[in-house]
Amino acid sequence: MFLVDTHCHLDFPEFDHDRDEVIRRAHLEGVERIINIGSSLEGSRRSVELAQKYDSLYATVGIHPHEADHIVQGSADSIKKLARQNKVVAIGEIGLDYFKQFSSPKNQLPLFLSLLKVAKELDLPIVIHSRDAKEDILRILKEAMPIKAVVHCFSGDSKFLEECLDLGFLISFTCNVTYKKADNLRELLKIIPLRSLLLETDAPYLSPEGFRGKRNEPAQVRLLAEFVANLKKVELEEIANSTTENAKKFFNLI
Ligand code: NI
Repeated sequence: MFLVDTHCHLDFPEFDHDRDEVIRRAHLEGVERIINIGSSLEGSRRSVELAQKYDSLYATVGIHPHEADHIVQGSADSIKKLARQNKVVAIGEIGLDYFKQFSSPKNQLPLFLSLLKVAKELDLPIVIHSRDAKEDILRILKEAMPIKAVVHCFSGDSKFLEECLDLGFLISFTCNVTYKKADNLRELLKIIPLRSLLLETDAPYLSPEGFRGKRNEPAQVRLLAEFVANLKKVELEEIANSTTENAKKFFNLI
């Protein structure tokens, strides 16, 4: 079994006391590659450091829309410098969040545009965070085409899904698809072609059903893969192979 956790945050303090163990447990479950996602400038620095330290780990660098109200000048340039480091495979997570609005949309937009520009300049794929912002996300990304994007922790309706697939974007699902109330997500997951699907934990967040309230970790991609195999009525091997191939190609992994 060879699986990839394409989105997690092992740079967070939640993992400070047992990071080695967490990565070891992931390997025991067949999760052989881990993409650690930068969500702030400081987090992106740590993400790059972790990728230098652990062979199986790769980094993305980016600033989450939640941070948009607290951006210091020159942040996009700092991200650009970090993006040139070894084992940095994408810009992200970046995007728009009109659901929680921890930062004002007025500040989220220029931050998103500046980081999208960095991705274009360096010819790197992007990891998109979108909540309740599909109109703006699609409008901006259509203008930025051609660009390689994955829509992480997919939420939305079948129309948004269809538009993302039409643009050639990958769709990534977390363990929240296992939640009792997630019928809507399961219906979408059923119709996504395997060639467009990635798996992720978004650890430490979004532990699967049965583990809710606990810290999530990359090893749980195994459970997610089994869940997806069941739902789509295909062999676990096929889910593992296709999602791993997609991840390797998208992030240009070795
Ligand atoms: Ni995330």
